[in-house]
Order: sequence, then structure tokens, then C-alpha cells
Amino acid sequence: MEPFPDLPGFLYWPGRLDEPARIALLAEVEAALAIAPLYRPATSGGKPFSVQMSNLGPLGWVSDRAGYRYQPTHPATGAPWPAIPPRLTDLWSTLCDWPAPPDACLVNLYRDAARMGLHQDRDEADLGAPVLSVSLGDTAVFRIGPAAGGPTRSLRLASGDVCALTGPARLARHGIDRLLAGSSQLIPGGGRINLTLRRAT
Ligand code: SIN
Ligand code: MN
Repeated sequence: MEPFPDLPGFLYWPGRLDEPARIALLAEVEAALAIAPLYRPATSGGKPFSVQMSNLGPLGWVSDRAGYRYQPTHPATGAPWPAIPPRLTDLWSTLCDWPAPPDACLVNLYRDAARMGLHQDRDEADLGAPVLSVSLGDTAVFRIGPAAGGPTRSLRLASGDVCALTGPARLARHGIDRLLAGSSQLIPGGGRINLTLRRAT
């Protein structure tokens, strides 16, 4: 569904993953994070993100003093990123009208007061390819507004919700204002994991 008529191309599937699928996906992500540990990147200005990150797939999004980019290896371990689980690539083929599979999946862990400021996803080579987002754990207050600026609005993304930035909404500005702590028991120790599938190349 398109929850906001003035943001065509922003697609939302509330509760797309049921509880067994959320549990299975979390287990797959935790196994991958044992290989590619979460770390806290910094902006090019040296300011640490409040979100912890890792990646899955041939390429991963990283940020450091040199700026933002996609690279094939983990910045701390130097090892290739673990594969994207088939559960996620299947979701991409089912929901995204795009001929190629995702080649990058950013893993964001939000705990406590972690948030993400309004931004656009524009480090990908083909900005026609969608970005597909899967939420696990605590509900987040997601904020989104048109690429060109103007008013934003918020939407609560709960565990198992899936949304996508496609077509005219591909460059929509978006971010996470805050978490609703304790709204889910899925993630040990609380918090939220967001997985964004992209086509980096
Ligand atoms: C992102 O824009 O990378 C993450 C958005 C989210 O956590 O839902
Ligand atoms: Mn983003």
C-alpha cells in the first residue's frame, strides 16, 4: 500500500513478516553478525553515529573520514561481508519490481536513544533501483518527506513491517526520530534492527 498519497512510490507492508519469520530472520542476522560484527561508524566529520552498523552481501555501506561508500570488506576485520539470507533476497524478488537482485544489505542496530537524522539514500550507482527496508524489534518513529523538501510526516515501523523507497519516492528524505522502548521482546536486550536491501552497483 501507499500510505501517503502525496508520496507516490513509498510502499508499506505492515506486518509483512509474521512472528516465526521474524524469529528466523533474526537468527540468520545474528549468525551473520558473529562473522561481521556490529561497529559504530563515524561521519566524514568524525562524529560517531548513534546507530551500530554492519552489512551483508557483496558490498556494504561504510562511512569514515574518507566519506561514504560501498566496499566489499568489513572495515575492522577486513573480511568479506556474509551473504544476504535467501529469506531477504526472496522478499526483494517478491516485492520489488527490479530485474537484478540486491547486492548490499545494511544492518542498523538501534538501542536506547539511537536515532538517524533525515537523509537521502544516494550513494548507489543506479537511483532507479528500489531500497527495501525490513524492521525487527522495537517500534521506531520513522520520518519521511519529499526529496525536494517540504513537510515530513511520521509513521511507526513495527517488528515485521516492510517498506520501500521506489520510483518518485526513491530519493525521499527519511530518518528515525526515536524508538518506542519495550514495544517488542524480539531482540535480546531490547532495541531495533533495520535491514535495508539495495542495489549499490
Ligand atoms: C536507513 O535509512 O538506513 C535506516 C532507516 C531505518 O532504520 O528504518
Ligand atoms: Mn536511508
